[in-house]
Amino acid sequence: MRVTMIGAGYVGLVSGACFADFGHTVTCTDSDGARVAALNRGEIPIFEPGLAELVEVNMRQGRLAFAEAAMDLGHADAVFIAVGTPSRRGDGHADVSFVYDAVRTIAPLLSRSAIVVTKSTVPVGTGDEIERILREKRPDADIAVVSNPEFLREGAAIQDFKHPDRIVVGSDDLRARAILAEIYRPLYLNEPPIIYVSRRTAELIKYAANAFLATKITFINEIADLCEQVGADVQEVARGMGLDNRIGGKFLHAGPGFGGSCFPKDATALLKTAHDHGVALRIVETVSAVNEQRKRAMARKVVTALGGSVRGKTIAVLGLTFKPNTDDTRDSPAIPLITALQDLGAIVRAYDPAGMEQAKAKLETVVYCHSAYAAADGADAVVIATEWERFRALDLARLKSEMAQPVIVDLRNIYRAEKMKRAGFRYVAVGRAGVE
Ligand code: UGA
Repeated sequence: MRVTMIGAGYVGLVSGACFADFGHTVTCTDSDGARVAALNRGEIPIFEPGLAELVEVNMRQGRLAFAEAAMDLGHADAVFIAVGTPSRRGDGHADVSFVYDAVRTIAPLLSRSAIVVTKSTVPVGTGDEIERILREKRPDADIAVVSNPEFLREGAAIQDFKHPDRIVVGSDDLRARAILAEIYRPLYLNEPPIIYVSRRTAELIKYAANAFLATKITFINEIADLCEQVGADVQEVARGMGLDNRIGGKFLHAGPGFGGSCFPKDATALLKTAHDHGVALRIVETVSAVNEQRKRAMARKVVTALGGSVRGKTIAVLGLTFKPNTDDTRDSPAIPLITALQDLGAIVRAYDPAGMEQAKAKLETVVYCHSAYAAADGADAVVIATEWERFRALDLARLKSEMAQPVIVDLRNIYRAEKMKRAGFRYVAVGRAGVE
């Protein structure tokens, strides 16, 4: 199959490289000429484990190419739109202007029976508007518009693309369904279910899935708060709940709140859609509000661990990204945590294996260090904000020797209290008993 991706950002690049790896011939286009030039030199502009290798192999074997402008789309079996849909300034609606711009640009280049597929996360009804634009621009053509949302997690995107739990195809057009089935056919070995639904349903599935996962996290975070008050262990509660197949154990890790480029933005956009249609999504509303408050509130844990004040104290924050295996600090809980600590008079030192460049643009007064141990130098407390693999096996004796006081606040619950006790630390976790 011949596939064209409009947009070589996170979703376009991962999807394009994976489609090429399936054996399809893929061209990824992007209006950013510098990005395309870099990709053609083999430089990958985003941090995603395994992506550079996948791009390199498929380029070398002639299945993947990058171009600045979408040229002749007449031969493409499907044209995927994978441009960004950021939060619109002011009202939190998803800004779909890049999607519509892309549609206007490609309209004259499409074949008369083209299939245009939206992979960008777009509000319900966006596909209808795309169809309207295409009808207006191409009255001669009969173009099918499909919604095919992605469910990739940053840091695990290739694995998620190649081993999806399901593929959602939103279209009533039988020809479009058959083409999408053919594009995803190489996955049949793993037999992921393909669900064929209407376009609006597909668009909503994506938002509902993200909002539900965000709800699960927020639920366990509040249970963690209760665990701390009643002397229960949230990890055991989560396991005890999650073994019930109706609940499932995933996304029940308590922590400092969810972040990233999707959950916070998508929850807000879903709420806007609901309000526009006169529907109250009170659970999602609460999840958003509780999560925002939680991020800054994590600073109170540090204050308590240090006996009531952090003024003049040095705090080492390990991890700045919203989760491991990414350099993405968008809506990362570490950012409001750090600003809250600074507002309370603390001096913050920080280390992250990949996210320091992005963090520097948001937090200027932090002392950025080259390792966890360097960050801990003279610190009154170490706060683990992201569960990077390398923070799971810290040399505790070395860490302690660097610090002014042996205090660890583990916001990701990656250590055991007994181990910390043996190592001589005061240890505070989330929803679990610590060590005094
Ligand atoms: C999320 C979804 O998981 C993907 O399915 C979806 O495709 C993607 O958004 C998107 O819409 O593009 P992502 O934002 O990359 O993926 O990251 P997640 O692994 O879902 O984590 C989101 C946040 O929740 C992180 O801050 C993470 O630390 C937090 N989290 C996750 C928890 O606090 N506890 C958990 O149990 C799981």
